[in-house]
Amino acid sequence: MADQAFVTLATHDNYARGAMVLGKSLRNHNTSKKLVALIGPQVSEPCQSVLRKIYDEVRPVDVLDSGDTAHLAMMKRPDLGVTLTKLHCWTLTHYSKCVFMDADTLVLSNIDELFDREELSAAPDPGWPDCFNSGVFVFCPSMETYGKLLQYCTEHGSFDGGDQGVLNGFFSNWATADISKHLPFIYNLSSIAIYTYLPAFKQFGSSAKVVHFLGKTKPWSYTFDITAKRITGSVPEASTHSTFLLDWWTLYSSAVVPMLHEHYGEQPFHSGCVESRCCDTVTFESVQDEGHSSHAQVSSQPELSSVERKEKWEQGQADYMGMDSFDNIKRKLDSFLK
Ligand code: UDP
Ligand code: GLC
Ligand code: MN
Repeated sequence: MADQAFVTLATHDNYARGAMVLGKSLRNHNTSKKLVALIGPQVSEPCQSVLRKIYDEVRPVDVLDSGDTAHLAMMKRPDLGVTLTKLHCWTLTHYSKCVFMDADTLVLSNIDELFDREELSAAPDPGWPDCFNSGVFVFCPSMETYGKLLQYCTEHGSFDGGDQGVLNGFFSNWATADISKHLPFIYNLSSIAIYTYLPAFKQFGSSAKVVHFLGKTKPWSYTFDITAKRITGSVPEASTHSTFLLDWWTLYSSAVVPMLHEHYGEQPFHSGCVESRCCDTVTFESVQDEGHSSHAQVSSQPELSSVERKEKWEQGQADYMGMDSFDNIKRKLDSFLK
């Protein structure tokens, strides 16, 4: 339907890269809806051009910032004041219904059925399930609602300093009024939930339709070794949502990076992709998180090449507490014996 759209927001280039991957993932799953990206003035020209190729509409907006450092500090996210810019989505009145999606979400299958829902439909927040998470929500653009939301901000502020606090204050009967406005969690599976309730993730995770890389560390915070198909970075929780991270990087490196190259031309830019330094025949792969990811791994330490790791072993300096722990080696041996 031409008057229905998926909407996202990027105030600068990193989130713009997220928006590119999100847009591609929606297209790959054959959405019949329009795609709209709201962008802040800091998004560079090349990134704007790539966004225009993927999205039907790329609309510059003023950055709204709560400047509410006290509340934002409680979430340890001083950067989230600008998320109030999200409220601009209500001004898209040439659409009758929209689904907002954070730029750090990735679509895993067609989700056009979300347009059967009414405003305001959203999934529970994993940290406080009586609040909805504002990373994915169904809404109806309206200048009247937009005006009321801004007024609400002025009068009450936001209890978390960002849009989620405002929206939960404004749509305050979400938790109790109408169960059809509770989206199933599979439409906004926060990577956080994977390690807070692993058995549920094992039971239901395969039906996830949208994954949300909620939290400080985003997919673009890592680097990706395109030869080894391996994510590198120094963040401990990395291994817990490795397949989704790999899905993000696989789509980004194959479909978005070539477009970025085309639009950056001679200008240098850092894609986040690297190529491994060597291909030794002895592979000392990481065995973390086996079962979730058979073809590539995530490591939580600065990367050692296979040769460097072999040398460390030969010098008696195995990483006994980490990659080379007894449990990991046993799992690896078990997998060979199977
Ligand atoms: N966002 C943005 N620029 C910023 C911070 C956030 O454009 O500096 C947008 C972006 O769409 C992002 C959303 O606001 O996905 C919410 O922020 P984030 O996803 O970082 O919050 P989280 O889901 O981790 O709480
Ligand atoms: C949340 C949401 C995010 C929102 C932020 C600030 O954690 O995931 O979409 O922007 O809070 O309110
Ligand atoms: Mn988010």
